[in-house]
Amino acid sequence: MATKGKVGITDTTLRDAHQSLLATRMTIEDILSVASDLDKVGFHSMEVWGGATFDSCMRFLNEDPWERLRKIRKACPNTKLQMLLRGQNLLGYRHYSDDVVDLFVQKCVENGIDIIRIFDALNDVRNVESAVRATKKYGAHAQVAVSYTNSPVHNTAHFVELAKKLKAMGADSICIKDMSGLIYPYGAYELVKGIKEGAGLMVQLHCHYTSGMAAMSYMKAIEAGCDVVDCAMSPLAMGTSQPADETMVAVLQGTQYDTGIDLNDLLAIAPKVKEIRSHYKDFDLANPGVDPTVLASQIPGGMMSNFLSQLKAANALNRIDEVLAEVPRVRKDMGYPPLVTPSSQIVGAQALLNVLSGGRYKMVTNEVKGYFQGQYGQPPAPMDADVQKQIIKDLPVITHRPADDLPPYLDEARKEIGALAKNDEDLLLYVMFPQVAKTFLEQKYAG
Ligand code: CO
Repeated sequence: MATKGKVGITDTTLRDAHQSLLATRMTIEDILSVASDLDKVGFHSMEVWGGATFDSCMRFLNEDPWERLRKIRKACPNTKLQMLLRGQNLLGYRHYSDDVVDLFVQKCVENGIDIIRIFDALNDVRNVESAVRATKKYGAHAQVAVSYTNSPVHNTAHFVELAKKLKAMGADSICIKDMSGLIYPYGAYELVKGIKEGAGLMVQLHCHYTSGMAAMSYMKAIEAGCDVVDCAMSPLAMGTSQPADETMVAVLQGTQYDTGIDLNDLLAIAPKVKEIRSHYKDFDLANPGVDPTVLASQIPGGMMSNFLSQLKAANALNRIDEVLAEVPRVRKDMGYPPLVTPSSQIVGAQALLNVLSGGRYKMVTNEVKGYFQGQYGQPPAPMDADVQKQIIKDLPVITHRPADDLPPYLDEARKEIGALAKNDEDLLLYVMFPQVAKTFLEQKYAG
């Protein structure tokens, strides 16, 4: 159950890779066709659950996400299973009350998760506290991710300070989560060194290949003492996914950083993963190559395709450049949030409105209104005071932890869903995605 070599690899094939390349559509049949092979490789861990898979399972695949987790657990007795959790947002898009967080984490661990990677889009420590506490309470490893971004306030010292706070709060390890592939190799070196020295915790680097730098950044990070890097099997690697397992294993082989993984084992599995990818042609639309424009725009892949489809619907595709130029301005007004779920959606929707509605903040989304009232937490830098005034007028701004305003909800949810939920797992499907879960549960228990 442990990393074989000096440097560990977390294989993301069954979660982030297909979320990044195949619109999160991989089915449990395809997952199980390769899971037990991956389990024998000797990865530090396999990321197999969480992120968008929970929603996608029910919404698009008519699959019970809990059932999926139990099946993967059964197929992978040798490897630690890992998931991605959005802090107080869990696997949804808003904050949940602490009683929901506690039960959700308990069920993740009970159904087979060993390592929970927890992040907050704003890097507000208070938004991950409750999930970290629950993770430790139920005996799993609490890895806290810092959402990586570049801005006038985001530098190595900023992230090292953040890592120290996370350690003090109870994090078992730190992940640098570079969702758009923005970290430069020498920057990665400096940051990993800084966090290792400053916080004294195990460090894991998670990069997307988007800009083409990820494998080089892994290399420099490893030289700085990075303990684990995230990779995917080559047929589902690169592009907007992670660097390839095979590449990193080969690069490190025979060095002081050897992963202990046998390259031949990976070469034997790759054709199976290639075959799996061929099942998803309808969703396989991402640019397979390198997109260096992300280095300037910082706009993650998913956000760009949203813009294009929304502008097309508004018959305004010719205004894409204006929208792209508006994104960094909105981000500045909002105190430089990293662009990751849900902040990427919030910034993106507002940038679009600012361009299409004939004036900046003439129309604002409810999310932006809530954001400027502090409902998502504290941004990395102060928000623009004039814009804030323009948007929320005299509405109050909260400075406490947003979830402090949320009363316990489980008892009420139990009443709402009634007999349709046969257990806590069913109940949590409903709490997370009420409409979708109702339909799903009605069908599940209809026969
Ligand atoms: Co990712």
